[in-house]
Amino acid sequence: MSPRTKIIALFSAFASGALILLVAATALLPSAKAPTTTVTGTAGVGGPFQLVNQNGAPVTEAALKGKPSLIFFGFTHCPDVCPTALFEMSEIFNALGPDASKVQAFFVTVDPERDTPDALKAYLSSFSPQLTGLTGTPEQVEAAKTAYRVYSRKVPLNGGDYTMDHTALVYLMDKNGDFLAPFNAKRPPAEAAADLKKQL
Ligand code: NI
Repeated sequence: MSPRTKIIALFSAFASGALILLVAATALLPSAKAPTTTVTGTAGVGGPFQLVNQNGAPVTEAALKGKPSLIFFGFTHCPDVCPTALFEMSEIFNALGPDASKVQAFFVTVDPERDTPDALKAYLSSFSPQLTGLTGTPEQVEAAKTAYRVYSRKVPLNGGDYTMDHTALVYLMDKNGDFLAPFNAKRPPAEAAADLKKQL
């Protein structure tokens, strides 16, 4: 497969949606202009961030060094997409068995207003202990979203409540902290785990 075909295949492996199509289009545009630089579209994912984990400890991009990482942006009040993704990631960690400790995963909130470290801690207790929650000030979260090209938007609900629209891609970062590809967590956990083991 050519790298472009590979990108297309990776994206089509995800559930379709306008957002994902948008991201795919963004990824493909640069290579369409300059066919020799096929990684242009993905090279811009990732970068510096300053957040805190569910225990309130500072976490920066330095945490991505040394282990391959899965990174997913979402929010704890999400009705279905986020809990499903976190459940899938937890199943993949189970499938990794003894190698689980050699891989890490980050759940970065797009809703810092409600997702305090304590809220993340309570929420993540239902999932794999390999999952680290990340939050910060609205500005810090905004900077992390920009670095990872994540879109999110507050959507008001009846009664003054709100929900969030957000990019729901799982990112695979290599053990140098560099973006590799979108990661398909919607496959049999053993298959996804085998894919991750290639990065150890
Ligand atoms: Ni969600």
